[in-house]
Amino acid sequence: MKKTSLFTICLVIFIVCWIFLRFVIGGIISAPIPNTVIAMYMALIFIAILVHVSVEDSRFTEFLRPVNETLLDDNKRTRRLILVILIPLLLSGYTYSNIAQKASPLGDPRQAHPKPPLDLTYKDEVIDTMQKAHNPYRKYEKEDPELFKEHVENGRSVYYKNCFFCHGDHLDGKGHFAAALNPLPANFQDPGIIPNYQESFFFWRISKGGPGLPNEGTPWNTAMPIWEDILTQEEIWDVIIFLSEYTGYTYRTFGEGH
Ligand code: HEC
Repeated sequence: MKKTSLFTICLVIFIVCWIFLRFVIGGIISAPIPNTVIAMYMALIFIAILVHVSVEDSRFTEFLRPVNETLLDDNKRTRRLILVILIPLLLSGYTYSNIAQKASPLGDPRQAHPKPPLDLTYKDEVIDTMQKAHNPYRKYEKEDPELFKEHVENGRSVYYKNCFFCHGDHLDGKGHFAAALNPLPANFQDPGIIPNYQESFFFWRISKGGPGLPNEGTPWNTAMPIWEDILTQEEIWDVIIFLSEYTGYTYRTFGEGH
């Protein structure tokens, strides 16, 4: 009977170790072992195998024999052909499975912009229903531009005291903390944000933050804080005005005539 080559034995040991780490420890025991840790262990096992086969010259030659044969022998053409096809196939399959979009589990799609609750509230005080509520200071834009400017400036200082860490110096969602957050902070320079929402929607999102999102807003764990604990109603309306003044976008109004 043909003796199993040293190379095959090592290959089998290597694969068994990988299956053990990936599917026994990571799967059946379901220890949260990240792929990078598996890769580290596999690198160590690879080195251990290399050390084992290379302690003696004769053993190393024996180890490399099937590799040389496969690469050079005339009667190993088929084996070469199979490898030449198989290796790119496996690699591309692996790459594809890594970048392909995973289907999201049914019934649990996360909505970045869920429906707001019926009542707009600040702490427990009902302000107005969502459809009717609008920024009480917006009217000064036409009636009293000087006063309006004060609200814009107040909004600016609220923003640069509280919001820019996450939402960025330029309101583009690229604040210092942004890279560490998932989901990312909203980018107010994105033309799909401000023009699609009423000011009252923003009031709701700012006053209640991530914890105020309804169930369809989860499972994302958003870092957006609850600002009604810190800011006054006026400060929230002012920062909302500042966001549109800075970006040049106007909020959606549903034909309210302003
Ligand atoms: C700790 C980081 C952080 C700070 C500080 C922060 N935000 Fe956010 N904010 C987020 C994240 C993350 C999101 C995106 C996830 C979400 O919608 O909750 C977000 C979302 C929002 C949204 C919702 C936008 C949309 O498209 O629905 C508004 C409005 C908003 N922030 C305004 C503000 C304002 C105003 C301030 C300052 C008073 C502020 N944020 C401070 C992290 C932050």
